Amino acid sequence: MSVTAIIAAAGSGERFGAGFPKALIQLGDRTLLEHAVACLAPVANQIVISAPAGFEAQISELVGEGIDVVTGGSTRSASVRNALAVTTGDYVLVHDAARALATSGLAQRIVTALKNGESAVIPAIAVTDTVKVINLDGYVASTPDRRSLVSVQTPQGFTTSALRQAHVSHADATDDAALIESSGGRVKVIEGEARALKITTQADLHTALAFLGFNSTYRTGIGIDAHKFGIGRALWLAGLHWPDEIGVDGHSDGDVAAHAMCDAIFAATQLGDLGSNFGVDRHEYAGASGVQLLQETLLKITKAGYFISNVTVQVIGNRPKIGKRRAEAVSVLSQALGGAEVSLSATTTDGMGLTGEGKGIGAIASALVFKQ
Ligand code: CTP
Ligand code: MG
Repeated sequence: MSVTAIIAAAGSGERFGAGFPKALIQLGDRTLLEHAVACLAPVANQIVISAPAGFEAQISELVGEGIDVVTGGSTRSASVRNALAVTTGDYVLVHDAARALATSGLAQRIVTALKNGESAVIPAIAVTDTVKVINLDGYVASTPDRRSLVSVQTPQGFTTSALRQAHVSHADATDDAALIESSGGRVKVIEGEARALKITTQADLHTALAFLGFNSTYRTGIGIDAHKFGIGRALWLAGLHWPDEIGVDGHSDGDVAAHAMCDAIFAATQLGDLGSNFGVDRHEYAGASGVQLLQETLLKITKAGYFISNVTVQVIGNRPKIGKRRAEAVSVLSQALGGAEVSLSATTTDGMGLTGEGKGIGAIASALVFKQ
């Protein structure tokens, strides 16, 4: 009885924010996709990768001969269906490239359960958080008993005929087992692995590196920015619009906190500074928002092989008062940096200096980055 392994690798990695598909991100000595191939190769007779459109040739070259590459679809389920179309095995394992560190041992236990007569087998781990069902209005609807809840992983295994049948309806689900369930099939649950975590954000990559026991090279950087108040300008600070405050002059939106953060990240990675990357002579950045510059900064440092550990920023000025909107600002800034840890503080300067005299706002930031 033969086994086909499908690797869903066609996602864009929006939340990771690298600017290229997540499957191609480097983790230790190889890409997430190559880790996933290494996990499945010992148990599979055929491997099919569902690749992002436009990356098929690059991925074929990366994984080498003997592995089938098909073009993915617009949803994960569609990507799996495209791979199912060329699947030849009696059993099929469907695995996320993003769960790069799942072990071959786990894949083997799934195959064993299939060979023992199950038609759908999934790995899962106990949830440690209490999970709530919520309504669209943001209120809790109910609290399921935690003992009946698990967190589900991949690879998920099926008899190929059962999975094909489940996909006939062309429905979308975030995993394949859900399609089997909705067509009335039984899904067996076996013990998963902590290291099969799904790498979604920069912080997850950090966790994955720890599983590999990797030594990263850390670097720090600092950045400072200040702008004068400018009549008639809207105030953008720490990724937020502050409606009742006076804005500052500047080439972009004048978000000194975001600018100091970009500078700190560039300094840590030795990739120049805000001016050399987004300078006033670069028209495409005129009027760019602080959030946009942070996103572009992340893109540039990811290409150079760096990851962010954390960034801190302190706003220096009499107004606005940051405290009430701190959480909101941290969330916006962190999201712009692919979920990296961000902290935001503020201080006044006892009436001294440019910002103490109320002439403008300044910010100072530090960044810790690592290269594998
Ligand atoms: N996937 C896929 N085809 C899609 C969407 C996702 O093959 N149209 C794959 C991803 O490549 C990933 C797995 O499904 O290996 C799980 O998806 P997820 O972790 O959400 O990855 P992305 O969709 O790439 O990330 P994001 O949602 O942040 O964009
Ligand atoms: Mg996704």
